[in-house]
Amino acid sequence: MTETLVAGIDSSTQSCKVVVRDAATGALRRFGQAPHPDGTEVDPAAWWDAMQAAVAAAGGLDDVAAVSVAGQQHGMVALDADGEVIRPALLWNDTRSAAAAQDLIAELGEADGGDPAAGPGAWARATGSVPVASLTVTKLRWLADHEPENAARVAAVALPHDWLTWRLGGADSLDTLVTDRSDASGTGYFDTAAGRYRRDLLAMALRRDDVDGIVLPRVLGPSRAAGVGDLTAGLGHLMLGAGAGDNAGAALGLGMGPGDVTLSVGTSGVVSAVSRNPVADPSGLVAGFADATGEYLPLAVTLNGSRVLDAAARLLGVDHAGLAELALAARPGAEGLTLVPYLEGERTPNLPGATGSFLGLSLASMTRENVARAAVEGLLCGLADGFAAMQDQGVPVETVRLVGGGARSEAVRRIAPAVLGLPVQVPDPGEYVADGAARQAAWTLAGTAEPPEWSAFQVRTYEAEATPEVKERYAARRHLVAERGA
Ligand code: XUL
Repeated sequence: MTETLVAGIDSSTQSCKVVVRDAATGALRRFGQAPHPDGTEVDPAAWWDAMQAAVAAAGGLDDVAAVSVAGQQHGMVALDADGEVIRPALLWNDTRSAAAAQDLIAELGEADGGDPAAGPGAWARATGSVPVASLTVTKLRWLADHEPENAARVAAVALPHDWLTWRLGGADSLDTLVTDRSDASGTGYFDTAAGRYRRDLLAMALRRDDVDGIVLPRVLGPSRAAGVGDLTAGLGHLMLGAGAGDNAGAALGLGMGPGDVTLSVGTSGVVSAVSRNPVADPSGLVAGFADATGEYLPLAVTLNGSRVLDAAARLLGVDHAGLAELALAARPGAEGLTLVPYLEGERTPNLPGATGSFLGLSLASMTRENVARAAVEGLLCGLADGFAAMQDQGVPVETVRLVGGGARSEAVRRIAPAVLGLPVQVPDPGEYVADGAARQAAWTLAGTAEPPEWSAFQVRTYEAEATPEVKERYAARRHLVAERGA
């Protein structure tokens, strides 16, 4: 019997990755990837080109029956009435809309009860999340305030994965745009608990009173098909899945259920958990997003993930293995040296203008080993903050897993259980976002109530003596950071 193949695509911040897997067992058949341009403002055409290159590197889609696209969340893809991209997309890690986030928070507070200070609670109740610069809604407000002529032309707003799925289907008309719950929940104009758009919030962001005419992608259920591939491009044989935000894609790829918490060290640092109930955290530390199976995916996201390790390795003139070796040669706590790693500003806590700092330099602590250790501990303390915020929201924690490019570092694996004070499972390195997309494609094809059971991955458990003093010192120092340009 010939096997049925499905493909999963991860259009992430730094690259596009494609896996081709057997629909029945999940066995990996082919893989391809291609880089994305740098920067926090990107022409979506570059994602399309990278996707073509990654698909070609993965042997093409001619023998593939279904494909789903997972993508970096929140990016603003604004389209005009002809379906053309109005301006380069602003990505999740672009912080120019930080002031817009503050304005929107105050305005909803005023609208709700006359008190700007009530804003965070009002947003958490309305959408599940308090806006920060990452969310699409703040980017639309930035557009209205800085490029009003562009804001006036907006006829549809899509996210990276919606736009790529639409292009795969031929991009016939704006009305064929679709998305899924997981990515819609990160826009800031979607009521995640009720599962419907809040056009009043879209109107507020765009400062327009004609938003009823703006197309927002139709929100599909987890295993519903988005359509079929573009006939004219020879993709008519392909069923298109709804796709997902990358974090929900990873949760599906990892088979996460309630009680599982995942720390992902990619470009962003993400702490996520599957929850049966919606979360609405007025502190804004936890975003109340949805997952790709019909549940919820509360998460806390730092802007500073694996690039902290890249920068530290560059500073020390070593590769990643060399950085890990140095960090593991130092004592826990790096003899009092702390790196507050807000190298790209920060989102959790919400300090978009912050810079990073080394604190506690002394003759004893200022060694290469301690600098390496402080980089790893600082990165992990940032994630531990997110982890604590999830626990404060009552999210159950039974197992903790560590994934993403940064989890390949032996130092991150060994130091994570010490900083968190809990055993940490590290699954085999893998493309879990693309895998989740592929699993969704197989689910869409099967038309079953539950996603197909794919063979489990191996995990290795890391344990270490807890070092609470590292987190305590970090907590005492994390606000002693300077603003950009100060
Ligand atoms: C989630 C977020 C990031 C991006 C990275 O809120 O902003 O994790 O999805 O791709």
